[in-house]
Amino acid sequence: SKILLLHGPNLNLLGQRETDIYGDLSLNDINSSAKKQVEKDGIDLETEQSNSESELINIIHQAKSNNVSLIVINPAAYTHTSVAIRDALLAVEIPFIEVHLSNPHRREPFRHHSYFSDVAEAVVAGFGADSYRYALDAAINIIKKN
Ligand code: DQA
Repeated sequence: SKILLLHGPNLNLLGQRETDIYGDLSLNDINSSAKKQVEKDGIDLETEQSNSESELINIIHQAKSNNVSLIVINPAAYTHTSVAIRDALLAVEIPFIEVHLSNPHRREPFRHHSYFSDVAEAVVAGFGADSYRYALDAAINIIKKN
């Protein structure tokens, strides 16, 4: 089986961008640890990042034909704005886990609402890069159970 790890806008700048909030690791660092973690259990990992809402939607659509069984997504700022990405996830009917490096609930009020949380399997937030590790651990367990 296969997991898609999908990163939204500005996450290509991880390690350079607001490092007090998002940490020192680059997206490459996060993706390569994620690959190692998942491959230990014989599961494939596809990693994608886009700054474009339409591209993220197309990647989600393609996940269906790519036989992705679970999506781990950090929608970044689109968390708080994108009905379209939410609808794409519902359209493909692939279960997903929502991830954030920071805890949006202890930040500005406009970050308190997510268009994803009420339809996600689970939400992991506030652990920095470890949020991805915990989410992927949960994703592996879900896949093993099925
Ligand atoms: C984020 C939180 C969002 O509010 C923000 O727009 C991001 C990153 C996080 O991982 O903490 O870009 O999703």
